[in-house]
Amino acid sequence: MFPERRPRRLRRTEAIRRMVRETHVRVDDLVYPIFVKEGSSIEEPIASMPGQSRYSPDRVAAVAKRAASLKIPAVLLFGIPRRKDATGTSAFQHDGVIQQAVRRIKDAAPDLVVITDVCLCEYTDHGHCGILDESGTVLNDETIEVLCRVAVSHAKAGADMVAPSDMMDGRVGAIREDLDENGFEHVGILSYAVKYSSAFYGPFREAACSAPRFGDRKSYQMDPMNVREALREAAADIEEGADIIMVKPAMPYLDVIRAVADEFDAPLAAYQVSGEYSMIKAACEKGLLDEDACILETAGAIKRAGADIIVTYFALRLAEMLS
Ligand code: PBG
Repeated sequence: MFPERRPRRLRRTEAIRRMVRETHVRVDDLVYPIFVKEGSSIEEPIASMPGQSRYSPDRVAAVAKRAASLKIPAVLLFGIPRRKDATGTSAFQHDGVIQQAVRRIKDAAPDLVVITDVCLCEYTDHGHCGILDESGTVLNDETIEVLCRVAVSHAKAGADMVAPSDMMDGRVGAIREDLDENGFEHVGILSYAVKYSSAFYGPFREAACSAPRFGDRKSYQMDPMNVREALREAAADIEEGADIIMVKPAMPYLDVIRAVADEFDAPLAAYQVSGEYSMIKAACEKGLLDEDACILETAGAIKRAGADIIVTYFALRLAEMLS
């Protein structure tokens, strides 16, 4: 009844592979994270992340313009302030490092989407993502008040979207409300809805000078062993008004990306974090792997798992390869 099975004879020429390809990575999918350090004329290579640098606000516009000229739609900014204190007050100053950088980038590349990281770990002297009580425990609600001030100050500077990465409960709704009350209804929220307590943030903490002085972030970041919890976190953030939700890290959590993509129709981002970047860089420097091939394959895997958007330090190279 059925024709006899015959061996597959379709020859996989490059053109045929393109025709039958199921997953595509596009330049439009990319977000490029940039570290901005307070000061001037700074362009400082980051030892833990070969190929990435910290830029002062006066130097960051050139990098943003490079991203824009490669047609990368968005950048994500992390700030490294000169002064840190217990409550992270330098995070919401009008002339803070991020606020300056946003204004410079918006002047230089008005169409580039500027997303700002909203978190306190780079701004607190203890390095935790929030305000602490005497025993060193993060105070959820007190932290949210500060995060709201940070988000509004970024919006005032011209940010298109804010990206809370602290993992306090209820911060998306609170930030949404404060943005709206201050006339920033149009400013979006990219929420790090599903952020694991991961070993892969190591190089970032050196890059952003944000390693906690004591303890770890396990009380507010997610247990890597959980996936149902990821769905609850994502549901809560969507309910509170997140425009884009994010899973982070990406590669060790492809199953989580898939689960979230299957469950929700909100735009989904995945963050190929510093450790994923540095791991590939280190292996390639040793001659063990082919860098460009790894970049394309890992980005493809993240898309295949269901992400719409990829936040990656490889964005510039990827954009070059894809164009
Ligand atoms: C801040 C924050 C971190 C990252 C993004 N935002 C570090 C952390 O939680 O320790 C990590 C990004 C990366 O590793 O590339 N809360």
